[in-house]
Amino acid sequence: MNPFTPLTLPNGTSLPNRIAKSAMEENLADPDHAPSDELIRLYRAWGDGGVGLIITGNVMIDRRAMTGPGGVVLESQRHLARFQQWAQSARARGAQVWMQINHPGRQMPAALGQLTIAPSAVPMDMGNFSKQFTVPRAMSEDEISEVIGRFVNAAVLAEQAGFDGVQVHAAHGYLISQFLSPLTNKRMDRWGGAIGNRARMLVAIVREIRARVSPGFSLSVKLNSADFQRGGFSPEDARQVVALLNPLGVDLIEISGGSYEAPAMHGQARDGRSLSREAYFLQFAQDIAGGARLPIMVTGGIRRLPVAEQVLEGGIAMVGIGTALALNPALPREWESGKASAPMLRSIGWRNKVLASLAYMAMVKHQLRRLSRGRIPNPGVTPAYAFLEQQLDTTIKTCRYRRWMGRQPA
Ligand SMILES: Cc1cc2nc3c(=O)[nH]c(=O)nc-3n(C[C@H](O)[C@H](O)[C@H](O)COP(=O)(O)O)c2cc1C
Repeated sequence: MNPFTPLTLPNGTSLPNRIAKSAMEENLADPDHAPSDELIRLYRAWGDGGVGLIITGNVMIDRRAMTGPGGVVLESQRHLARFQQWAQSARARGAQVWMQINHPGRQMPAALGQLTIAPSAVPMDMGNFSKQFTVPRAMSEDEISEVIGRFVNAAVLAEQAGFDGVQVHAAHGYLISQFLSPLTNKRMDRWGGAIGNRARMLVAIVREIRARVSPGFSLSVKLNSADFQRGGFSPEDARQVVALLNPLGVDLIEISGGSYEAPAMHGQARDGRSLSREAYFLQFAQDIAGGARLPIMVTGGIRRLPVAEQVLEGGIAMVGIGTALALNPALPREWESGKASAPMLRSIGWRNKVLASLAYMAMVKHQLRRLSRGRIPNPGVTPAYAFLEQQLDTTIKTCRYRRWMGRQPA
């Protein structure tokens, strides 16, 4: 199918085409953790580039719980004007702009110096890198209610700021994904055990957001097809979660996979082997689409027009793209004008899969940083250079975050 066909969502709104920019954490917040001028410039580039849907990098619903330093935080109306500018900057050619909202749970760097909470006290298992994370404390009922309320609050604020929708991040091993996975959710109460219990937090968040936002506001969930770990969240679990979401007024489910421990979202299998094919999760997404009554999007490894077309042939409504749009924000416009653009990063020869995954993220963030300063991307950046640059950026922003937190009221 031609990706330049509009899509009408269940809420009646439409997307001008089938290509979405998927969420990529930018670490480009201003010193008060609101959207910076650089962040706004970056989104203008994507808005001009012709995608039909722009999903922001994850925005934190709680300043005490960050996926990394330099992240945007949305807890109150304090910086609403900046958020309005951010949404507006991306809308130049009629794309819908959705804010992704997230809580890291145990996937929060220990260097940020915050208390880490998760469904259960299960530490990260990343070999030598496990020490980069604090062993989490299991959440109380009150903390679970508070987190649900914070997701809903962020969605309501996103609508007030003029975003067209939100995406709840329930993938990649973050908090909601930790609740979904039997490896990280060992709870014996109503939040753990059978998949209906493990999905209770996600279902509550989705239901309450839908009840609080207007009917035309789009609501999406990013879900793992599997977490690619033995005994973990399985494709069958994913199918059951989609069945639970079917009647709740969700407009789009994005299918991805993996976590920090098993970074399948970047084409890395648990054993470090590259999955090497394009559209990593296509088969899983097609299986899920079979039982879904709402549009499905698949993200991961897509960078060529024929692959995008093939994805759309197979019952998938939207194609999600991250890396290739960081390398070339104008990719949709170029495809539409007949150019066979297929942006690609240098390959990474590093054997350590954690380091390779970090280097990959750094190489993409290098492009985001360049675009945010009005420069053109540099696909030739080496993994070592990008890695060191990212380490330095992280160190500086971690210190800045800790100082900022020290000034916040308790
Ligand atoms: C630098 C970087 C940051 C990312 N940040 C997020 C994020 O904030 N939220 C999210 O759901 N996925 C995030 N992802 C994953 C992407 O959305 C996408 O699922 C993944 O990169 C695979 O798609 P691609 O091969 O087109 O890049 C990130 C990926 C990269 C490379």
